[in-house]
This record gives sequence, structure tokens and C-alpha cells, in this order.
Amino acid sequence: MEKFLQCQSCGMTFDERHKQYIAKDKDGNDSIYCTYCYRDGEFIDPRATMEDMIELAVPHFTHKTGDEEAARKYMTEVVSSLSRWKTNEKIVKIALIHGQNHKGSTYHIARMTAEKIGGSTEEFYPEEFSEGCLGCYACINKGMTFCPHYDRIGPVLASMLSSDVIVIGSPTYVLEMTGQLKCFFDHLFSAWLSHRPEKSMFSKIAVVVSTAAGIGMNGVTKSIARQLFYLGVPKIYRMPVRVASMSWDMVQRKEQISAKAHKIARKVADQNGKAKPGLRLRFMFSMMRLMHKKNDWAPLDKRYWKDMGWLEKGRPWKSHE
Ligand SMILES: Cc1cc2nc3c(=O)[nH]c(=O)nc-3n(C[C@H](O)[C@H](O)[C@H](O)COP(=O)(O)O)c2cc1C
Repeated sequence: MEKFLQCQSCGMTFDERHKQYIAKDKDGNDSIYCTYCYRDGEFIDPRATMEDMIELAVPHFTHKTGDEEAARKYMTEVVSSLSRWKTNEKIVKIALIHGQNHKGSTYHIARMTAEKIGGSTEEFYPEEFSEGCLGCYACINKGMTFCPHYDRIGPVLASMLSSDVIVIGSPTYVLEMTGQLKCFFDHLFSAWLSHRPEKSMFSKIAVVVSTAAGIGMNGVTKSIARQLFYLGVPKIYRMPVRVASMSWDMVQRKEQISAKAHKIARKVADQNGKAKPGLRLRFMFSMMRLMHKKNDWAPLDKRYWKDMGWLEKGRPWKSHE
């Protein structure tokens, strides 16, 4: 792990005098944080924001210099450069797909998570993409661009493909994702592993958010994650939230929700550029590969797998084949 000369949460220097304050990680190794901020692999106050940290330090520096404004400016520079708070410069783009048109709890939590991840965000709402699939099989037999709804589906898929991170949110409606979001996923059928998955999906990170008043949000995040898995996405974080409310204004636990979003954003930042298919996805890919080796029923799929080199040694998660 990279060594730092100061706590990457509050900025305490790790010089000779202070090195006993370096906190340990769960595995017993030195962490990059001090014992005031971190214990056993967890932040002592996971809800703390960068602003909280700055305000905590301002009185100490004001005491030394007598100038509160200058102390705040200095601390802002120091704290914002620490890895706990630095926005991830490598994450350039996020595709944020809302499963509902209105701006309720799910919208706010999905957006908050995307903001904490950082990067420029392209947002989509069901009014832009939610026609029902006609079952015409044009996507399978001729290609996705022949879908009668491609002019609406295409831009959302293009954004997903060109993004580093995909964030998808849906309220829980009668224990399922919204009908509109499901309609969107139906249109991506031809990009499933079983047909013509997109190579770039195999290096993406996704975050899936669902809110419910009481029950069902776990199942919904699982169900959306399953859709993404079959599109080839290797790293999917689920964020089910019980809001116990019908509207965002009435939600009581906003600070805890923000802390949860922050934790997920940090995991995304850690995984950025490293996401690779795990055993399950590789296994599923091999099953599809064997199927396509024998495939004489879907010529477009067979040609695609052959052209991609996947029937030989090529794999979508390897760059040079
Ligand atoms: C049509 C409909 C169905 C719902 N079904 C459930 C449900 O199955 N379980 C549940 O706990 N809450 C259910 N709720 C409540 C919402 O999931 C909950 O209020 C959610 O946070 C709303 O998100 P939003 O503010 O983004 O619209 C339902 C609400 C509606 C309008």
C-alpha cells in the first residue's frame, strides 16, 4: 500500500512524534489514517464530511495565527487533497439511469451517490426510453439498431458504454423494479451474454439503488444487478434503502443514507480501472462460448462471437487478443 506522511482523513502529520497515531487496518497493517479517524478498518465517524473535518481543525489553526479566515483557507487546501475526500479524477463519466420520472427518494439517493463518486454525469429518465418491447426480434435477427425503439434506447446504451460507472435507481413498486425500467432492460436482450454482449461492459462498475417504504428493496437491487450481470458488468454494488416514507422530505435518516452513499463511492473509486469478471461471470461466459461454438440457430450471434475472437482464445476482459 502507498505510504503517506499524514493522515488521509484529517491531515495529522505522521512524523516521529506522531507515528504512534497511525491506525491499523483489519489485517493488522498500518492504514493511511490516524487513530482519531479510523479503527479496525472502519472510520470512527463514517458520516463525517470534508466540511466537518475542516471546521474541526479551524479553531486549532486560528489559535496559532489569530486569523480564522486564513486558517479555513489553509485547511480547505490541506483536507481537500487527502485521499478520503479527493474526488476521483480518474472517473470521467457516469451514466445515471432513473427508473422513475419524478424526483423522490430514489432520485435523491441515486444522484447523491453519483455526485459522491464524482465525474460528469449523463442522466436519463423513463420518459426518454420506456416503451414496451414489441417482441419483433429485430434486435436478435438483424441487430440492435433495427429495433423500432432504437432512437430512444440507443442514446442510453451509448452512454452506458462510454461511461466508467453506471448508476441505476428504481423505487420498489410491489416488490419489483418499476415497469418502465424493466421495459428498458427488455430492449437490451440482444446485448446479453447469450447473444452479443458489448466488450466494454466487462470492465464497468455499477451501483444499483432502490428505496422502499418497508420491504422489497433488497430484491429490487438484486434483480437490477442480475440484468447488469447478464450484460457483462463485473462489479456491481447494491444499495437498498428502507426509507419508511412516501416522500424524500419525510425521510428521517438522511445522514446515514449519505454515509452509506459515501462508503459505496469510496469502493467505486478503489475499484476504478481494476474491475474484472469474477468466477461466476467467467463461468457463464464459457457456457455461452460452448453454446456458440455449436450454434447453428442464430447466425448473427455466431458471427459476432467469431469476429470478436471469443470462440478462440480472445476474451472481452483482455485488451490484446
Ligand atoms: C405503486 C407503488 C408500489 C409500492 N410498493 C411497495 C412495496 O412493495 N414495498 C414497499 O416497502 N414500499 C412500496 N411502495 C412505497 C415506495 O417504494 C417508497 O415510498 C419509495 O421510497 C418511493 O420512492 P420514490 O420517492 O423515489 O418514489 C410502493 C409505492 C408505490 C407508489
